[in-house]
Amino acid sequence: MPNKKQKLKIFQTPRGTHDILPQDQKYWDRIRTVSQTLASYYGFERIDTPHLESTDLFLHTVGPTSDIVEKQMYSFKTRGGDALTLRPEGTAPIARSYIENGFLNLPQPVKLYYRGSFFRHESPQRGRYREFHQWGLELLGEESAIADAEIFQVCSLFLSELGLKDILFYVNSVGCRECRPKYRSALSGYYRSRVRGLCKDCKRRYKDNPLRLLDCKEEKCVTVKKSAPQILDHLCEACKNHFTVLLEFLDEIGVAYMLNPYLVRGLDYYSRTVFEIASTYVAASEPEVAREALPSINAENRNAGDEKKEEDEEENVVTEVPIKEEKAGKEPLALGGGGRYDYLVELLGGRPTPGVGMALGMERLAYAMKQQQVKIPASSRQKLFFVHLGELAKKKSFKIIEMLRRANIAIAESLGKDSIKSQLKLADRAASEYALILGQKEAIDGTVIIREMSSGTQETVLQEKLIEILKQKLRR
Ligand code: HAM
Repeated sequence: MPNKKQKLKIFQTPRGTHDILPQDQKYWDRIRTVSQTLASYYGFERIDTPHLESTDLFLHTVGPTSDIVEKQMYSFKTRGGDALTLRPEGTAPIARSYIENGFLNLPQPVKLYYRGSFFRHESPQRGRYREFHQWGLELLGEESAIADAEIFQVCSLFLSELGLKDILFYVNSVGCRECRPKYRSALSGYYRSRVRGLCKDCKRRYKDNPLRLLDCKEEKCVTVKKSAPQILDHLCEACKNHFTVLLEFLDEIGVAYMLNPYLVRGLDYYSRTVFEIASTYVAASEPEVAREALPSINAENRNAGDEKKEEDEEENVVTEVPIKEEKAGKEPLALGGGGRYDYLVELLGGRPTPGVGMALGMERLAYAMKQQQVKIPASSRQKLFFVHLGELAKKKSFKIIEMLRRANIAIAESLGKDSIKSQLKLADRAASEYALILGQKEAIDGTVIIREMSSGTQETVLQEKLIEILKQKLRR
């Protein structure tokens, strides 16, 4: 026990992590339900891989010059001496699992979906965390552009089913083993005389991986990039054809897309199609909504000391700016990204297997839903609220609630509250469609009152008929 003079340490979530609070769970539930329903309908099966993977898995696939490998991995040696990493992304682990579990012997393509926590040691800021959640799709074993189109289709249906507006897909092709080296040398040629005007990171990128020069957000580098050669002009016939067919599919499905010839994405395993999904929605009352909507990152006093030092030591330290000052929501928010990875399985020692996939950031989806004030449909809420009145009714409550549970009918309650007014207020706040009211009289008569919350109309029914009547009402 600390003595009175010792100050109690106030624990907070580690920097860049956050609680998903009860009031936000409805958004997360909705994301989970819609993604699961759509993915299953389109034949994707759920897979869960460990949070820990061998460090080499990411070094070999995501690429040694990527931001993830260079700066962001949570890597450590176990007591047994194994080098492990908290997974920073989900595609390489799925390729590993595809090989390890002999998925090659299954009918192809193998279609998988996943969701869970991922970890990157980034500088926390708007929509960027150190532990975040993704849901993703991976389709392995199909080379044709229809597979890419299916990923776009499910992703775009998901976003519209979720109720999100103003979604834009930025699309590009990064070519294949044949054409990319030629583009890379054209790019190096262009940058050769301009390298002196680039930022420190880009000077290094120029040597290590010139394609990543196109990823830089520094103003001076963006200016140089504007006249750089474009990969679309350097694609081989096969890649050009693949890309054209994909765009034809996108036109057919009606996905809103824009070509971005400089989109390369920060992961080395991509070939051919790459894309990013942005929300371009800007709300009128942006700052307040955004401030409320994002899980908070405590900028002032989060684990001061060590973390501060560590931050200052980082290259490219991004100062944490309170959401309001940062003009939250004015920049398009990247909700997700993906692409084709035809060499990934082979790179990990498997038989050459093409693949394509995408992942959406769940924090950003929940944020966009709040920002756009998306209504959560009644079917994913508890439609009933149990209200009791008097001691006898309170005692009989559990019997009725258990009867409902057995019939698989969800109901919310607040048994600790005695006043009918406060219980009805809670029912209203939970946006329940019906309140079931059990008073002294009903408890004695073996009846219960069903109150429609929107109109206030009530009917008294026999408890033994309750399930049957509720099922009819809830089906409507
Ligand atoms: P990614 O672009 O690195 O792609 O991440 C996908 C999405 O995850 C981002 O667009 C963003 O919404 C979310 N995200 C990433 N980092 C953070 C962060 N620090 N905080 C909050 N959200 C974040 C991949 O991870 C690839 N594995 C996607 C893929 C699947 N490619 C092919 N298949």
